[in-house]
Amino acid sequence: MHIQKTTVPSERTVAIERWYSGDMVVRGEPLYQTHCASCHKPDASGSANWKEMTADDKYPPPPLNGTAHTWHHPLPALRRTVRMGGIPLGGSMPAFAGKLSDQEIDNLLAWIQSHWSDQIYLVWDERNRQAGNPLQPIARAEQ
Ligand code: HEC
Repeated sequence: MHIQKTTVPSERTVAIERWYSGDMVVRGEPLYQTHCASCHKPDASGSANWKEMTADDKYPPPPLNGTAHTWHHPLPALRRTVRMGGIPLGGSMPAFAGKLSDQEIDNLLAWIQSHWSDQIYLVWDERNRQAGNPLQPIARAEQ
C-alpha cells in the first residue's frame, strides 16, 4: 500500500491525493446539475428508498455521495454505467454515450467522488487495485 491509512482524521479533511484534479470537480458541477440532479438529487443524495424495488420492478436512483454502494465499483465500471445507463441491465438510468464526452464523464465522476469521505475513497481505491486498475493521482493535471 502506498497510501497511509493513518492520515484520516475526519470526514472533511482530504488527507490523501485523489485521481482527479480540483479543476475536474469544478467542471463536473454544472454537468451534474444539468444531466443527473433530476434523478440523483442536486446534492447527490439520491432517493431515501433506493433499496426498494418499485411496482415496475425498477430501483429508484441511488445516492452517489458515498452512502450507497457506488464505491463498490472500480472506475471503468462507473464510466460504463454513465455511458451505457442501466436499461441494458434491466434498470432505468438513461445512457449518456453520445451526449457526454469521455472527459465530461470523468469530470462528473470527479464531482461525485468529491462528496466521498477519505475512508470511502480509500476502500474504493483498494478495489480498483484489486480489479487491476491502480489509479495514479493526477492532482496537478490540467484536465
Ligand atoms: C432518469 C433518472 C436518472 C438520470 C437522469 C441519471 N441516473 Fe444514474 N441512476 C439512475 C437509476 C434508477 C440508477 C440505478 C440503476 C438503474 O436502475 O439503471 C442509477 C445508477 C447510477 C450509478 C450507479 C450507482 C451505484 O451505486 O451502483 C451511477 C454511477 C450513476 N447512476 C450516475 C449518474 C450520472 C453521472 C448521471 C448524469 C450524467 C446520471 N446517473 C443520471 C437514474 C438516473
